[in-house]
Amino acid sequence: MCGIVGYIGDENASDIVIDGLKRLEYRGYDSAGIALCTKDGMMVRKKKGRIKNLEDMIAGENLYGHLAIGHTRWATHGAPSDANAHPHCDRSGKIAVVHNGIVENFMQLKEWLISEHGVEFHSETDTEVIAQLIGIFYHGDFEDAVFQAVEKMQGAYGLGVICADEPGKLIAVRKDSPLIVGLGEGCNFIASDIPAILKHVRKIYLIENNETVVLTASSVKIYNAERREVHREVFNVTWDADAAEKEGYDHFMLKEIHEQPKGIRNTITRRMDEEGNIVLDGIRMTKEEIENFNKVYIVACGTAYHAGLIGKTVIEKLAGISVEVDVASEFRYRDPFVDENTLFIAISQSGETLDTLAALREAKRKGARILSVVNVVGSSVARESDDVFYTWAGPEIAVASTKAYTTQLVCMYLIGLYMGRAKGSLEDSVYRTYIEELLTVPEKIEEVLKQERQIADLAKKYYKRDNIFFIGRGMDAAVSYEGSLKLKEISYINSFAIAAGELKHGTIALIEDGTLVVSIAAQDRLFEKMLSNIQEVKARGADILALAKESNTAVERQADDVIYIPECMDEITPLISIVPLQILAYYIAKQRGCDIDKPKNLAKSVTVE
Ligand code: M6R
Repeated sequence: MCGIVGYIGDENASDIVIDGLKRLEYRGYDSAGIALCTKDGMMVRKKKGRIKNLEDMIAGENLYGHLAIGHTRWATHGAPSDANAHPHCDRSGKIAVVHNGIVENFMQLKEWLISEHGVEFHSETDTEVIAQLIGIFYHGDFEDAVFQAVEKMQGAYGLGVICADEPGKLIAVRKDSPLIVGLGEGCNFIASDIPAILKHVRKIYLIENNETVVLTASSVKIYNAERREVHREVFNVTWDADAAEKEGYDHFMLKEIHEQPKGIRNTITRRMDEEGNIVLDGIRMTKEEIENFNKVYIVACGTAYHAGLIGKTVIEKLAGISVEVDVASEFRYRDPFVDENTLFIAISQSGETLDTLAALREAKRKGARILSVVNVVGSSVARESDDVFYTWAGPEIAVASTKAYTTQLVCMYLIGLYMGRAKGSLEDSVYRTYIEELLTVPEKIEEVLKQERQIADLAKKYYKRDNIFFIGRGMDAAVSYEGSLKLKEISYINSFAIAAGELKHGTIALIEDGTLVVSIAAQDRLFEKMLSNIQEVKARGADILALAKESNTAVERQADDVIYIPECMDEITPLISIVPLQILAYYIAKQRGCDIDKPKNLAKSVTVE
């Protein structure tokens, strides 16, 4: 959701904070702002729209100071506007706050501030309530005021707070929204995400829930909710700052599509010894524990949920155990059957998706063993899990998830294979076949990537369509959901995906002359059945863009256009067949002039319910 950055040190804080905000813009981008302690007191500048608008606004101003906080917003309370943009100040103008999250009891607090203290509000946000609350409690002791305000707040928050009376101090608070502290030489940082400050620091403190941090240029103190100081190990970031740059690609999404062979190679080979045995570092589950599980629950949101749908088929087949999949926002309110014999798998790129985190906590409360599949090292989901299976995709910046998805799929296969072997239910020859096939996936994706130009031409042909359907059967149905999500989130084309066999039970009524139906027929086993479904929609006027294996040329008799993928075992096709759909979505969105890396109304990391 929103991105926050703060700096305290010798350099000009406004330059550093604005640069950090640019690196966080993927987290939210409907307005941006900065608050700076200067020799003349607190200066706040904020503007609706992209960070560029903020930069244009302050160009030519001499904004100079050694302490600043900044924010890039994804609106929750109140529409995107200059007034609702962060930072927000208290009525004295001395306290400024940036906030990522939602204060659930903000209405009660607001009414109390109005009725008891006569506070006047200037925005519709919950964040202004925080600033006013701190202001009410401030009588010369900045830290105490923040602690008192936080005690009254319910909900999720990552906060950065500064006070004009104390230009040598930056305070940050975390509850259920990501927050890290960067440790520099003679300077320190706060941020909601590592890329914001990676240019300056590699030593990080991961802040835990209900902790408050007090930073000066030369010190960082972390306190728990009881105001007792706590010790924290330094976390060293090993990935390269360049990994979060575009490296000549027009968009992060395209770069990340191209990084899939590498990400998949990393995710597989880092977990395999020379004999092809899976070595799950960081996972402490014993053989006995695996044998005792009677159910697996996979819970996630969006693209990660689609990875879970494939995970269900794969784990059921390889490990011989029943798997349920659910979207996190539904799971947590459904009182699901979960107990100490359940393995709960949370999948999340960011590791900060609030619905997924809440579902994980619910499963934990019910006694389940928690295994998470996460990309961002040290994220909340990772930290709250019993075992973590990291995807080694590297930082994913584009809002549309691509390389995180394919590496999540790889994890599903590795978990299924590992469990199947541990339980003794998987024949060694089957295990070896899967491993051999998985190891060929990166080069098969490289083959697909060579078709980028042809797929871009198809995008030119189809980008003006108002409705695009996706159909598939079995695992191809799950791939069709993901292909459709990719397309709609970045191109804004109305798109719908459905299991092909379900079409005739209602949805086929929507097919008419010129409806484009992207038909995924990647599995040999279901190919003939898919041909029948393709015929059904073709007979009703649909145009067909089909996706099949190279040998299944019979599809050409039905389809207007075909994208071929290399031959592979049916069971691993989802790893390959999604790639042309990502490329298609990308080029359709490009043709339509969309802002691909930052689609409207979306944010990379969804840290609100
Ligand atoms: O960070 P997570 O994997 O938990 O995020 C889950 C979804 O919000 C995410 O996959 C979303 O659907 C993507 N924008 C899809 O491209």
